[in-house]
Amino acid sequence: MVTVRVPAKVNVQLGVGGLRPDGFHDLANVFFAVALGDLVTARQGEGVTLTCEGPGSDQVPLDDSNLAARAAYALAAHHGIEANVALHIEKAIPVAGGMAGGSADGAAALVACDALWELGTPAEVLHGLAAELGSDVPFALLGGVALGRGRGEILTPLPVEGTFHWVFAVADGGLSTPAVYRECDRLRAEAGTGYTSEELPDPDADPALLAALAAGDPILLADALANDLQAAAVSLRPSLADTLRAGTAAGALAALVSGSGPTTAFLAKDAEAAEGIARALRESGTCRAAHVTYGPVPGAAVRTSA
Ligand code: C5P
Repeated sequence: MVTVRVPAKVNVQLGVGGLRPDGFHDLANVFFAVALGDLVTARQGEGVTLTCEGPGSDQVPLDDSNLAARAAYALAAHHGIEANVALHIEKAIPVAGGMAGGSADGAAALVACDALWELGTPAEVLHGLAAELGSDVPFALLGGVALGRGRGEILTPLPVEGTFHWVFAVADGGLSTPAVYRECDRLRAEAGTGYTSEELPDPDADPALLAALAAGDPILLADALANDLQAAAVSLRPSLADTLRAGTAAGALAALVSGSGPTTAFLAKDAEAAEGIARALRESGTCRAAHVTYGPVPGAAVRTSA
């Protein structure tokens, strides 16, 4: 039996560029791994079976469409072996929340099956398999803080100092990532950018953001946080504006939608401030739950093996 712990992510910068012929958008995507994470356990089994527990687990598909199951099949196919594993997911990452929870489970299943089947797959092969599973899966393997180019899968680790403190407010229900990207394109077309969505120039990482991370300075980071999908997520779910306001009023240094949402992220000055922001968010009635966490933390890694 192998248990793997895997982090959720927040995008401290999500710069969305043009729509590509393959249906994805070119990104300048700064991923940040937080301690809020799932546990994925792999045991000997027959075929690939999947079970899941925790908040929102009734929304998690347990068939072969789940990224954890697809990861097991992909790893087995790469090695030319049969995929035999019973996977169990303990969810803490909000489901369909914009924190890459499904992608995290895919990354964790790659690592867990690799250990259970004693394959010793090189990291670059795991990265390639992860990129085929989804744009956010490679980062869940890597963890820390990294710039993602292309559709998010071409990763460069970034230097970061110290620990940043975060609060995440969970909304009722999820948002579809493709729907949020479509809404982003629609809003841009409506506003008129001077480009068609196919012609938009590639976004770049913001030097001020990179400097704030390297300096470990939450006040500078707060000034530089940016998510090009935020307007689209708020357009599809206008109540998110109330949650963002409630966190800011409670003293968050900055508030933003996490990825494609609907989870919202609040940067706090320190751990104590984070507790106060979470309490105020719970009392505000504008979210279902609020979690205090921190980062950066490492990517998917074996926690116990027996
Ligand atoms: O790669 P992943 O399966 O996570 O992507 C889900 C969907 O999000 C894609 O089908 C696409 O609609 C959208 N997406 C995008 N550009 C990206 C990443 C995702 O348009 N860079």
